[in-house]
Amino acid sequence: IPSGVVAHKSQLVVQLRRVLLDEGSIFAKDKNVYGVKYTGSKGTMKKTPPREIVCNLKKSAALRMLKRKDEPFKTLGLDDLFPGKPVFNKQREKKQPFRSCAVIASAGSLVDSQLGNFIDSHDVVVRFNHAPTEGFEGDVGAKTSVRIVNSQVISKPEFDFLNNPIYDNITMVAWDPCNYTSSLIQWYERPDFDLFTNYWTRRQKRPNDDFYILDPRSAWPIWNFIQGNTPARLRRNPPSSGFLGLILMLPMCNHVDMIEYVPSIRQTKRCHYYDTLEDNGCTFGAWHPLAAEKLLALSMSSSDDNEIFGRGILRIQGYPSLNC
Ligand code: C5P
Repeated sequence: IPSGVVAHKSQLVVQLRRVLLDEGSIFAKDKNVYGVKYTGSKGTMKKTPPREIVCNLKKSAALRMLKRKDEPFKTLGLDDLFPGKPVFNKQREKKQPFRSCAVIASAGSLVDSQLGNFIDSHDVVVRFNHAPTEGFEGDVGAKTSVRIVNSQVISKPEFDFLNNPIYDNITMVAWDPCNYTSSLIQWYERPDFDLFTNYWTRRQKRPNDDFYILDPRSAWPIWNFIQGNTPARLRRNPPSSGFLGLILMLPMCNHVDMIEYVPSIRQTKRCHYYDTLEDNGCTFGAWHPLAAEKLLALSMSSSDDNEIFGRGILRIQGYPSLNC
């Protein structure tokens, strides 16, 4: 392993841990806007084997999509607008997991990665929000199977969600956070950003698309899991889309390659590969508990350091191949 990679690894891990410790002081002041009431314990410093962590995750948390029978949607007569079949239904019917899945963090460190062919070789490629492939194929690939899109991208006019062709003919999952203890009705009345208007419009126009809304209540058990495995207090905001992407794919894939989620030696202040904005918060967390997510993802992987910190590929074995 090149000495540059070894040095990068130790600096990065120190940086992630420092961010976590700083979050302890944020915790004391933060307004807890989502009303998080966590009663479990913090994680310990004990090193746990990756398989055990992933199998515990399987027992503790899963993402759920809204279904036709969910209230208030049924009573409001909106139920038919949700897809009638579960997400990844074709694969579920085959009773066979995807062999390989790639989750592409949109990080600036993807620039000059030359990972495009490797990314496209996966059965499933998960991307986020409006991250483009056109013009970036060499570094990020051309294939998109799934997009996880937040409610800001769906609702804000500048993203032109209804007309942008990057959202056509793929599986889509829209999400918006709810309060820690809120019901679907409470959330529907006051989402952070209105994802519903454009969701209903798109569903009416393209009823056969695989377009789902995440049940926002299912994000909090994932936060609980991260907190239960982190030896410091966590930021009381929901996990990032990147971590949700991992949780979405672990039940469906033999392995999930997280690409530039844990930044490689190409680590940069640049937020996204597709724009020039510089902000370390994008990589280390300014709102989501990203530093904790990344340290946890690292402990769920058995990839060697050159793969993770040299190439930017963190491989996590999925539930089907771990038999847990
Ligand atoms: O910025 P955006 O939310 O669209 O990015 C998608 C996901 O990629 C984030 O939720 C985060 O998990 C990951 N990401 C990252 N480092 C960055 C930018 C994004 O880990 N610099």
